[in-house]
Amino acid sequence: MAERSRPPPAPRAAPRIVIITGGSSGIGRAAAGLFARRGWSVGLIARGAAGLQAALADVQATGATGAVAVADVADAEALDQAARALTAQLGPADAWINAAGNGVYGRLLDVTDAEFRRVTDVTYMGTVNGVRAALRIMLPRDAGAIVNVCSGIVFHGLPLMSSYVGAKAAVRGFGQSIQVELKMAGSRVRLATIFPPAVNTPFFSHAPSHMGFPARPVPPVYQPEIVAEALYVAATGRCREMTVTSVVTAFSYVARLSPALAAWLMGRLRFDAQLSRDPEALAAEEPSLFHPPSRVLGVRGPFNRRARGWSAQVKLLAFLQRIAGRVGVNPAAADTAPPAPGSPSIPAPAATDRPPACSAAPADAVSGRLR
Ligand SMILES: NC(=O)c1ccc[n+]([C@@H]2O[C@H](COP(=O)([O-])OP(=O)(O)OC[C@H]3O[C@@H](n4cnc5c(N)ncnc54)[C@H](OP(=O)(O)O)[C@@H]3O)[C@@H](O)[C@H]2O)c1
Repeated sequence: MAERSRPPPAPRAAPRIVIITGGSSGIGRAAAGLFARRGWSVGLIARGAAGLQAALADVQATGATGAVAVADVADAEALDQAARALTAQLGPADAWINAAGNGVYGRLLDVTDAEFRRVTDVTYMGTVNGVRAALRIMLPRDAGAIVNVCSGIVFHGLPLMSSYVGAKAAVRGFGQSIQVELKMAGSRVRLATIFPPAVNTPFFSHAPSHMGFPARPVPPVYQPEIVAEALYVAATGRCREMTVTSVVTAFSYVARLSPALAAWLMGRLRFDAQLSRDPEALAAEEPSLFHPPSRVLGVRGPFNRRARGWSAQVKLLAFLQRIAGRVGVNPAAADTAPPAPGSPSIPAPAATDRPPACSAAPADAVSGRLR
């Protein structure tokens, strides 16, 4: 019988590589697990060795390769060293997620100068340092995607969090500048900024509070796995900015169309809405602004009862991205965040050159052209 000739098996694509700062808990750790389940190799950076090991175990439990490096993101040289160490172990990153961040709760005059500066150093300068480290890896290869975790509170400031709100507003503006710089340079490296809602993570246990009680997220609260999915969409798609959940999308439009209404809504918040007397939250409290936490608090925080486990918007974006990846067509979704007041309007490229917003990119397509 004639032997049927079979085509040789397609070579297995090498796993893509993601580096995540703030990968030891909350959103960063949730993202580590998600990328690992989807076959990526994952490099994790944070200060706490125990938290990093726990997150690494999540990654390895999926069969994926992982590596960790201890660094304070506020220390640019230490972060660069960590990036070099992870690159030596895993290879050059295809995606880099800046998720490290911390805050302090209190009225401006109660927050010390050192605390205010530290929040800025970690949450803003840590992101700047992360983008620099990522660009050093990506620009020589002219490929890669950087995703900065910002916050929905950039659309209107929240009381008791002025240092954090300022730092996150800086993260958004900084990201827009870098996007234009990359475009002007004709680079294929992309940068996206995502704006999550209030999320049930250990963030509120890690932030010092001057209010007598630990902080809590302002409802509606979502589970971190939803933000992890949004990070995946942003890292593998083409959006410049993405609001996460319809709540943040609606809020961003309210703040844009009627800043007075947004200010009124914020003014209706009592301080109590940002504080918790819940015994679980009191037990979990461990401020870690100046040093790594001694306990591993994991992916979710102590606010499970109130947290939503799904978002129709994120599910839809992820679905569209999967479909687009299969059929090679890009959904014509626009960036979900409205432009910042006063931001320059960037001319859209020609239709043929126009990549999709937050749409699927095939395995090697983190190299698509920035728009
Ligand atoms: N939770 C929310 O409601 C919410 C909403 C919008 C945006 N975000 C943003 O989401 C990101 C992740 O926060 P999360 O909610 O997941 O809180 P989290 O659980 O406290 O995670 C923060 C992560 O950042 C790391 N980190 C903190 N300071 C660091 C430093 N100086 N150097 C290196 N790593 C540092 C922490 O690890 P070590 O302490 O071990 O260093 C941890 O891995 C932050 O940027 C936050 O601002 C959170």
